[in-house]
Order: sequence, then C-alpha cells, then structure tokens
Amino acid sequence: MSSLRIINANISTPLGNSARRGDEMSELLCIPDGGIVIDDGVITFVGKMDDMPFPDCDANVIDAEGRAVIPGFVDSHTHLVFGGYRPDEFEWRLKGDSYMSIMERGGGIQSTVNATRAESFEALVEKARWFVDRMSEMGVTTVEAKSGYGLDTGTELKMLDVINTLAGEKEGKLRVVPTFLGAHAVPSEYKGRTGDYVDLMISEMIPAAKGKARFFDIFTEKNVFEIEDSRRLLNAARDAGFELKLHADEIVTLGGAELAAEVGAVSADHLLHVSDEGIRRMAEEGVVATLLPLTAFALREPYAPARRFIKAGAAVALATDLNPGSCFSGSIPLTIALACIYMGMSVEETITALTLNGAAAVGLAEETGSIETGKSGDIVILNFDTYRSLPYYVGMNCVRTVISRGRIVTQNK
Ligand code: NIG
Ligand code: FE
Repeated sequence: MSSLRIINANISTPLGNSARRGDEMSELLCIPDGGIVIDDGVITFVGKMDDMPFPDCDANVIDAEGRAVIPGFVDSHTHLVFGGYRPDEFEWRLKGDSYMSIMERGGGIQSTVNATRAESFEALVEKARWFVDRMSEMGVTTVEAKSGYGLDTGTELKMLDVINTLAGEKEGKLRVVPTFLGAHAVPSEYKGRTGDYVDLMISEMIPAAKGKARFFDIFTEKNVFEIEDSRRLLNAARDAGFELKLHADEIVTLGGAELAAEVGAVSADHLLHVSDEGIRRMAEEGVVATLLPLTAFALREPYAPARRFIKAGAAVALATDLNPGSCFSGSIPLTIALACIYMGMSVEETITALTLNGAAAVGLAEETGSIETGKSGDIVILNFDTYRSLPYYVGMNCVRTVISRGRIVTQNK
C-alpha cells in the first residue's frame, strides 16, 4: 500500500458530492493545524493533526509548515489538442478585427482544422502534453479536453485518441476527461450546407465517437449551429449515450442557455450574453454555468454575469478555455484574478468554482473537487498560509506542491 501524509496544513475546501449552488458556493470548511492521509490514491483521513491516525505502514510525509492547502483545480473547459498556431489573427484582432468576421472569412477554427488534419498523432500528443505539464504546475489535477479541430470523422477520432492516450497514461500528472466537439464549426467543404454536415454528424460521426468521449459539446452560435440544428444534434448525442455541454451565448444572445436547460445539459459554457430567462432556466434545471473569464479578457468582451447566476441560485464553475484562437491562455492564476476583480466573485466562490463545481461540470463531483474522505487525493499546497491571498498575487503562480491521485506530480520552487 502507498501512503502519503500531509501535516501542518491550513486546509480549506468546499464540501459535497455535487455542485454547490448560489450562497453555498461561499461555504468552505477550514481546518487550521490540519492533516490529511491518502492511501492508494484515496483520502482516508482529513481533520485536526491531533486526531490523525498513526501510520500502519511506511508513509511519505509532507510538512506543509502552516501553508494553505486546497483541492486540486479542475479545468473543465479546454481545447488543448490542436495543430498550428494563430498569432496573425491575434494581431488582426488587436487592430479591430472581430473573432466572428475572421471565422467567416475562413480563418479562425477552420485554420486550426487545416493544421490539425495535417498533423501526426504523435506530434499532437507531444504538443498536448506540454500544456498538460504547464497546467499541472498551476495546480490542475483534472482537465477536460475537447476534440473539434478535425470536423471529419477520421481527424475527430484521431483527436479523441490523442486525448484518451493522455487520459490513459499510468504516470499521468492529471486526470483527463474527453469531450467530442465535432459540432465546433461547419467545415469549409460543407460551407452553405450546414444541414448536410448535421446529417453526417448524426449518421456517422456521433456513432463513431461513442465510447471515446464522455461528453458531447457544440458551438451554439449565430451563423454556426443555430438553435434548431443544435437541438437536433444534442438530442441525437444524448440518445447515443453522451452527456451534454454547450458553448452557449458567447458572441450573441441566441437562447443557448435555455436550450441547455431544455436538453438537460451538464453545463453551458461562456454565457457572456446570456438572457435573464436563460439564467433562470439553468438554475432551475441545475445546469452548471461554466464561465471563462480569460476568453472575455482576450476578446475584449464583457465578462459573464457571475453574480446574477449566483443570485439566481445557479452553480458557477470557472475554467480557462485554453485554445489557439479566442483565448490562448491556460492561466489558472489569471482566471482567479479576473473572477475576483472583474466578475465580483469572492475568493471562496472562486475556489469552489475551480474545484468542486468544475468537477461537477465534468461529472466527477463524487470523485474529486474537495478534500474529503473517499475522494481522490488531488491536493494543492500553496506558497502562503491563507487561500485569501490567491487573487492578491495577480496572475502569479503561487502553487508549491501538487498531489494528483495521491502522488506528488509537481514540486515548484
Ligand atoms: O471556446 N467558440 C468556440 N470555440 C472556442 C474557440 C476555438 C478557436 O477559436 O479555435 C471557444 O472560444
Ligand atoms: Fe471553448
């Protein structure tokens, strides 16, 4: 048996096996002078140091020396597998071009699709692993990863195989959750024939992706997949056994949030332009609102209305949206700072959003997202003694030690 003991820890964690909603998001359990025992990757004790059981085998001991200890972060929305880069588009946007006009000219997602189709499986794995390593350094112990830069059956499956290769690595630094995003855009060969691409997805791509991804995701947006096509695809994917996610109301108010509630999605993401009715419906149906402040920042868009979601009693998660286009950043520290400074979220709400609620957004709230007996040993030791300092170090990585499934995977200086 492998055993790890963390001593002298100032532990703070949300509690529970499901998303925390509304006011519950600010409730953290705090245990100063705490200890944690992890046996074979699973937490078997968390509590006061004085109550720690004696080890019955040789245990590794980490002395946190009074530092803040929180659950590992869950980044529940990323596009970390892709070919090529798009720095030219970033410059065009700085000069006033818009994300959608670049996409409509055949750039944007299609440009990454061309590069990803041309890239080998091995090269995609190596590139994705680089991002996984950087995320681990920032305390991420679970990451969701989407396909969506293939947009043909073969390349979508290649991307899912890349994601599953990372997910299956025994010594992997973090848990990887695969999402099938074949409905990311209409590929150029189907330009003007959205219905035909939707048919192809339903008859061929969704059945082919079955078993390779837990979630089905779609870019529900004006001039991409509008509400009717989205509804058809989401229902087909649910019938095929996928759990559902949506990129909803990112660029314009389209009713994506309402659709997410209607189809029983696990999460709706982005939501910069969500309607009041969309917020109400998501809260009512328990759809997690996954907010992505780095994307709003990078696109110079208004931030998603986190406070309105929380006031309505919804569960808010935060994620990075790391991708080569709209948001080429996987920065957890900057996500925390933006959430606190611009979205009006408290530090406690921000931690819940990046841990337990992120876990709920990928269907893993029973397994990770909090420091509790029976959960996976996914834990972060910070460089300071209180979690309250997290947003104060604006954009700076203050993660010292990362423990993933009971193993120390990252030790920053
Ligand atoms: O979440 N909006 C759609 N998808 C991504 C961007 C993908 C890209 O630009 O490559 C997003 O913002
Ligand atoms: Fe995205």
